[in-house]
Amino acid sequence: MPENVSPEIEALLKEDRSFSPTDDFRSKAHISDPAIFETAAKDPEAFWAGFAKELEWIAPWSKVLEWNAPDAKWFVGGKLNISANCLDRHVRTARRNKAAFVWEGEPGDRRTLTYFDLYRQTCQFANVLKQLGVKKGDRVALYLPLIPELAIAMLACARIGAVHSVVFGGFSAESLRDRINDSSCKVLVTADGGWRRGQIVPLKQTADEALKETPSIEHVVIVKRMHGDTVSVHVKEGRDHWYHRLMQDASYECAAEVMDAEDMLYILYTSGTTGKPKGIVHTTGGYLTGVYATTKWVFDLKDEDVYWCTADIGWVTGHSYVVYGPLANGATVVMYEGAPDWPQKDRLWEIVERYGVTIFYTAPTAIRAFMKWGTEWPAKHNLTSLRLMGSVGEPINPEAWVWYHLHIGNARCPIVDTWWQTETGAIAITPLPGITRTKPGSATQPFPGISAEILNDKGDRVPVGGGLLAITKPWPSMLRTIYGDHDRFVRQYWSRWGRDIYFTGDGAKLDDEGYYWLLGRVDDVLNVAGHRIGTMEVESALVDHPKVAESAVVGRTHEIKGQALAAFVTVKEGVTASESLADELKKHVANKIGAIARPDDIIFAADLPKTRSGKIMRRLLRDIAEGKALGDTTTLADPTVVAKLKDQYESQE
Ligand code: WT7
Repeated sequence: MPENVSPEIEALLKEDRSFSPTDDFRSKAHISDPAIFETAAKDPEAFWAGFAKELEWIAPWSKVLEWNAPDAKWFVGGKLNISANCLDRHVRTARRNKAAFVWEGEPGDRRTLTYFDLYRQTCQFANVLKQLGVKKGDRVALYLPLIPELAIAMLACARIGAVHSVVFGGFSAESLRDRINDSSCKVLVTADGGWRRGQIVPLKQTADEALKETPSIEHVVIVKRMHGDTVSVHVKEGRDHWYHRLMQDASYECAAEVMDAEDMLYILYTSGTTGKPKGIVHTTGGYLTGVYATTKWVFDLKDEDVYWCTADIGWVTGHSYVVYGPLANGATVVMYEGAPDWPQKDRLWEIVERYGVTIFYTAPTAIRAFMKWGTEWPAKHNLTSLRLMGSVGEPINPEAWVWYHLHIGNARCPIVDTWWQTETGAIAITPLPGITRTKPGSATQPFPGISAEILNDKGDRVPVGGGLLAITKPWPSMLRTIYGDHDRFVRQYWSRWGRDIYFTGDGAKLDDEGYYWLLGRVDDVLNVAGHRIGTMEVESALVDHPKVAESAVVGRTHEIKGQALAAFVTVKEGVTASESLADELKKHVANKIGAIARPDDIIFAADLPKTRSGKIMRRLLRDIAEGKALGDTTTLADPTVVAKLKDQYESQE
């Protein structure tokens, strides 16, 4: 527990309290009758179809679900367009003039886009894409800062049936290149730069590196985010075009393409257990239904709310809960481009106060940083507009939960700890704020219509206790495949038990009241500051360095980030391990993958401990990284140390 915990929090923690919705909250909530769990469980297809019916369909579906495990088709034969559901539907009502996005740039510039503005600009950009030759089914890569144009580009793709592949702006040129090539994107949309902690992130310059080896790209569109000549931008004649120039001549009229419910909406790459990220594929009807339903019920979203999810759109949280879910609900969405501690550590609270944010959704790693910065920062601001708060990305430790409750929510706001994944598309385990009694640290229960269960290795249900988290029935927003690699999809997610049971990769425990407690990944995937990083990817990046012979990457506990990367490295013959080499290797990984994958520790070892069959003993390495097996890790360079540790370990087993 951090040192600066106040006596009130300590008391709360000792009480092992749970938090019930207040009568006031319950009476106004969209959903407050617990009978819904049973109703949904009895007929999940009818439950989901109920939400789908609240959306706008061009042609109705003939069948809710066709399940040839592990291949699901939801809303078979139904036709719709997501951009029409997020825009046109609202523009025909009084929401036409409602703020869709309230955006703030890091330097303090501000923009508000009404639903009508967003609709117009989306139609225009859809026409721009068409002019550049983009057709239904073509892939478009988006490498942008957190600016409204990113949402506009996504909606424009969806409007014409193109598949977007958003690449987080923090990824390196190589990561961008590999993602573009994996799905042969035809167009790249990027920006001259973005702002992060007062620095310019020169996206187009990074993109130029990637573009040297992306033969499928025919056109590049550059959004001008920077003023004047703050960043130099190379515009390649014939290939590269300024966004604002193209938009000037683009028509406001663009009919939404008729899309099948199962047509591909987007690809989003995420890390797995191999060196190669997986292109998770989401389709149209089921995905929209899932994000629409969960946004409405989990956040109890109403027309008068001001909703803010702090995630970058480059991650799935931003896709589902900055763009599609809230816009499908006609919400007002706050978007902030930059760092939470810029120029001061109260930037987020300043924004909450300025726009009267009512719903606030962030990650445990951010909450732990706020805790460390101290209560004086939120205390400077009036946060009484808040009425509900959420958490996502990793298990939230009870201390952080209680701190969030007291110092941000003023002990008034329900907290929804939402468990889900890029693959699930939408929130799957979560409290319903008008129903659920919450317990700090538990994501509580599956959303109605979701069959999440804890199974043991053999696939038996664990009624109370620990095991592996599985989803035993298909759900609308589930991934449909891994782009270009359906076999990997089957192997990765549907082979642990049977073809009809989805394996999440997470461990979890059920308590005696049926509450789910998520325990983290059970595979070689790490969660650093809420971002998923594959150990193999980082290992490949390290081995790619000319001085490295072998490497093994493990996670260790980190106060703020939850987990940090510790990389064990053996160097090649004749190379001396040194502090400066460690720095060089960290930089190398950041250049190869992106800053999020930069290891915190580089530990040089004469050899890596392996079992007789040649498997690296990761548990031993984790203990070493945690400082449990060895105080001073630098002595690992002694060739006998690893062997001794290994012996000790094997005798313990
Ligand atoms: C992994 C998915 C989809 C949200 C952003 C991350 C972990 C996510 C929670 C939570 C405990 C959580 C899991 C999951 N995770 N939310 N509330 N409690 N763990 O998406 O990159 O696809 O990562 O994040 O380990 O498998 P992602």
